[in-house]
Amino acid sequence: MSSNIQSMFGRIAGTYDQVNHTLSFNQDIQWRKASVSQMTKDGYVPKKVLDLCAGTGDFALAVKETTPGAQVTLADFAKPMLTLAKKKANSQTGLSFVEADALKLPFQDMAFDTLVCGFGVRNLDSLEKGVKEIARVLKPGSKAVILEFFKPTGLFAKLAYTFYVGSVMPARGGAISNDKAAYEYLHNSAKNFVTVKEFKALMEKNGFKEVSIEARMMGVAYSVVGIRK
Ligand SMILES: C[S@@+](CC[C@H](N)C(=O)[O-])C[C@H]1O[C@@H](n2cnc3c(N)ncnc32)[C@H](O)[C@@H]1O
Repeated sequence: MSSNIQSMFGRIAGTYDQVNHTLSFNQDIQWRKASVSQMTKDGYVPKKVLDLCAGTGDFALAVKETTPGAQVTLADFAKPMLTLAKKKANSQTGLSFVEADALKLPFQDMAFDTLVCGFGVRNLDSLEKGVKEIARVLKPGSKAVILEFFKPTGLFAKLAYTFYVGSVMPARGGAISNDKAAYEYLHNSAKNFVTVKEFKALMEKNGFKEVSIEARMMGVAYSVVGIRK
C-alpha cells in the first residue's frame, strides 16, 4: 500500500465532503444513488455489502437508503476518513467500520454478496491486484459496483477534465482543503488511469461477467457493475 496516498487522504478527510459536494454541485451524491439503482434495477437485493475505500461513507449510506436491512462494512486505510464516516452514520444499525488495505483485505473468501467502491480503485498501487481481491471476497452471483473517474475519452469529458478537474478543482479544492497538491494528484490520477473499456476487460479477465457500464454526466464519471462468476 502507498503510505503517501494514505496520509494524503488522512489530511484532506476533514474537508473531503465539502469539496466533493461543492465542486460537483452535489452531482457526486446523484452518481452514487444512480449506481445503486443500476445494481438493483433487476430486483437484486444487497444483503452483506462491502463499501471498499469507503472514505466518509456516502456510498454505504446510499445503499442503506435503498436497502435499510443491508449489513454494510465500510473499509478504508485512512483512519480519519472512517472516524468521520462513523459520525455521519449517527448510530444507524447495520454498519461496521474496518481499517484495511484494499490490496490485502482482512476478510474470508466469498464473505460478501455485494461490493461498492466509489472513487477508490484509481488510487490502488496495483489495479489488477485490487480487482482480484474484490473478486476473492465476493460470492458467485454477487455484484461489484465501481463508480470512478476513468481516463476521459469523449470530447466533453476531455474538455471537462482539462478545464474543471485540471484547473478549477486544484484551485478551489486546494483552497478549501488547504492542500492543492492533493487535488492535483486527484486530477492526474484520473488522467493517467485506464479507460472504462480497459477496466471492463480487466474485470472480465479476473472473475466477472455481464459487466455493464453507465456514463455519468456524459462520461465525466462511470459506474461499472459486474457479476461475480
Ligand atoms: C476519493 S476517496 C473516495 C471515498 C468514498 N468512497 C466516496 O465515494 O466519496 C478514496 C478513498 O479511498 C481510500 N483508499 C485509497 N487507497 C486505499 C487502499 N489501498 N486501501 C484502502 N483504502 C484506500 C482513501 O483513504 C479514501 O478514503
